[in-house]
Amino acid sequence: MSLLTDVRAPAPAVLPRLLGDAGMRAAGRARPVRRGALTTMLDAAGLRGRGGAGFPVAAKVRAVRRATGLRRPVVVANGVESEPLSHKDALLLRSFPHLVLDGLTLLAHEVGATRAYLGVAAGAVEVDDVTAALHRRPRDVEVEVVEVPHRYVASESSALLSWIDGGAAVPYVRPPWEAERGVGGRPTLVHNVETLAQVALLAYYGVHWFRAVGQPDEPGTFLLTVDGAVATRGVYEVAAGTPLADVLERAGVALDADTAVLTGGYLGRWLRGAAVRSASVSRAGMDAAGGALGAGVVHVLPPESCPLAETARVATYLAEQSAGQCGPCRYGLAALAEAMRALAWWPDADAQAANRIRRWGEMVKGRGACRHPDGAGGFLVSAVDAFADHVDGHVGHGACAAAARELRSAR
Ligand SMILES: Cc1cc2nc3c(=O)[nH]c(=O)nc-3n(C[C@H](O)[C@H](O)[C@H](O)COP(=O)(O)O)c2cc1C
Ligand code: SF4
Repeated sequence: MSLLTDVRAPAPAVLPRLLGDAGMRAAGRARPVRRGALTTMLDAAGLRGRGGAGFPVAAKVRAVRRATGLRRPVVVANGVESEPLSHKDALLLRSFPHLVLDGLTLLAHEVGATRAYLGVAAGAVEVDDVTAALHRRPRDVEVEVVEVPHRYVASESSALLSWIDGGAAVPYVRPPWEAERGVGGRPTLVHNVETLAQVALLAYYGVHWFRAVGQPDEPGTFLLTVDGAVATRGVYEVAAGTPLADVLERAGVALDADTAVLTGGYLGRWLRGAAVRSASVSRAGMDAAGGALGAGVVHVLPPESCPLAETARVATYLAEQSAGQCGPCRYGLAALAEAMRALAWWPDADAQAANRIRRWGEMVKGRGACRHPDGAGGFLVSAVDAFADHVDGHVGHGACAAAARELRSAR
């Protein structure tokens, strides 16, 4: 997937900044600022993490600085991107590795770390790009590139830290939080690679420049992976607050009352018709419409596909990809995936199936060591809500022709 080669010319819905001229000029040039000054800038800029949870970066930096004491902290860049529908982090690492490394170095200076790690998917081509970029940089912060095994939950922050420490790439129960006790028992700051690139831009151009686009409560830009039934697939950089409909129009989608979009990724939410039109690209703008910004995924379902069959396929994948070590994943996700498969494919799905999915989808939330079951449960509930007419059709008449076709081709 590429950026800008796919996007014909800048338009209001697409604003290359991080991945445009501004990023190009800044890459490799951001210099450390006085200790403490970067945290003040992060606060003033209102920068939030781009890895999914959207936590304020300044608050995470402060927590690590508070916990440091006599132990030297560690900084970790999360570029693993295990979400199958997301390609923004890989593109960023391939195109602008120095921006990511600038952000990593700046945050290392800010918290007093001399050691950092950059996690990437095992065998990814980005490993070479990042390694080559590292050879051309000063060694004031020692950065080790760590290849992480392919599993959806391996990129969750505690799983990543466990892997760096020589353990299994599966999440662990917190507390202790990584800010207090992470890699090697040291205070650890973990950020997504897009977040780090945004930190580099902020340090280079300043708060005023950073806030010049986006919204007062959600400034700056987001990288979106726009994919599926679109004319122009690609990674789009979009100002916060841009209507989702403008992004889709830019990607060549003719919206109608049935257009279905998976927002955020596999742990995200389905939006359909009017909800797609009401959504905008920000955490609040997506939440208000019933969607999710998550990892910046915008995936348009092909009109000939059965949304229940697609949801059942993803639910099966998410259940298999959990670490299987907590009740909500081992039993909850397995049962949810089974219920969704029954609804999508069985000839005798019962009228209570959707309500059961709603109930179980709520029950798994907040009960695992990580947020995997919360996201997966929310994703399934959004499917039965957004596609209630399809649910009625399947319950009344069995699997639709599209679902049956997909089942045959999967066999
Ligand atoms: C199942 C699961 C998978 C995740 N995968 C990723 C990932 O691929 N990349 C990422 O940056 N964050 C991922 N996260 C979020 C991280 O745990 C963490 O919040 C993030 O790396 C912090 O970076 P940020 O503050 O810059 O957003 C995942 C979370 C969960 C629950
Ligand atoms: S909640 Fe699920 S994915 Fe997360 S640690 Fe527990 S079993 Fe693994």
